[in-house]
Amino acid sequence: MSSARLRLAGISAWYGSNQVLADIELTVEPGTVLALMGPPNAGKSTVLKIANRLAELDPSFKVDGRVLLDGQDTAEVDPTALRRQVGMVFERPTAFPRSVADNVAFGLVLAGIGPGERARRVEQALRKVGLWDEIPDRSVSADSLGAGQRQLLCIARALALQPRALLLDEPTRWLHPADATRVESVVRSLRGQVTVLISAVDASQAGRVADTVALLDQGRLVEQGPTGDIFTNPREPATQAYLSRRFR
Ligand SMILES: Nc1ncnc2c1ncn2[C@@H]1O[C@H](COP(=O)(O)OP(=O)(O)O)[C@@H](O)[C@H]1O
Ligand SMILES: [Mg+2]
Repeated sequence: MSSARLRLAGISAWYGSNQVLADIELTVEPGTVLALMGPPNAGKSTVLKIANRLAELDPSFKVDGRVLLDGQDTAEVDPTALRRQVGMVFERPTAFPRSVADNVAFGLVLAGIGPGERARRVEQALRKVGLWDEIPDRSVSADSLGAGQRQLLCIARALALQPRALLLDEPTRWLHPADATRVESVVRSLRGQVTVLISAVDASQAGRVADTVALLDQGRLVEQGPTGDIFTNPREPATQAYLSRRFR
């Protein structure tokens, strides 16, 4: 797997006349995990959706600034091609009512990847998320899985495309703690393999999975830096306040 440097440069964003992001500067180094922390409505999902050009599907949406993938301006990349390179997993597991194998193969079929390579990548992706041995019969419907397994399946579906970056939007929000723990350990295992930008309301989760954390509040980046530094020695009072409220 290859991993790219993902950089948001001077990003501001609006829905209609409502400005929701102001001059965001954020860099995720190749193969590292950056957790974007922040309260509900801070703009976390919007940041992630800008990174793979999903936000622009909303007709009222407007963005200023640039998103760079290894220095290449993503505005110049075909959006469908970009979304293969920058995968995304959402809060709610979005597994399709198809077999486990078909779910993981979905994007590969669309990308025109042949059956042999497809089977190989499906196995590899399911192994990465710990579902290969757990679900020996990959022809069962994804509907028969629990929520945690479905979310892991969604991560496998994204990984099968061998993305250069992966966006995880509060992937454990609707999961039981035991399932959340599994997702977190998969995220940690991706370090060095793919660039990960994960959003989290829960600061303790950010602390467990991320190399770098950034705090977003009302569309502004309050502070960012190496996880250890921010957690032990936050400079901004707003960060101190957030961490003291959000540590469980
Ligand atoms: N499609 C949309 N249309 C209009 N406003 C939106 C839309 N999506 C999000 N917003 C607004 O943008 C702000 C940031 O939302 P969001 O990025 O979802 O934040 P978060 O993920 O941190 O909860 C919020 O005020 C939200 O109401
Ligand atoms: Mg959100």
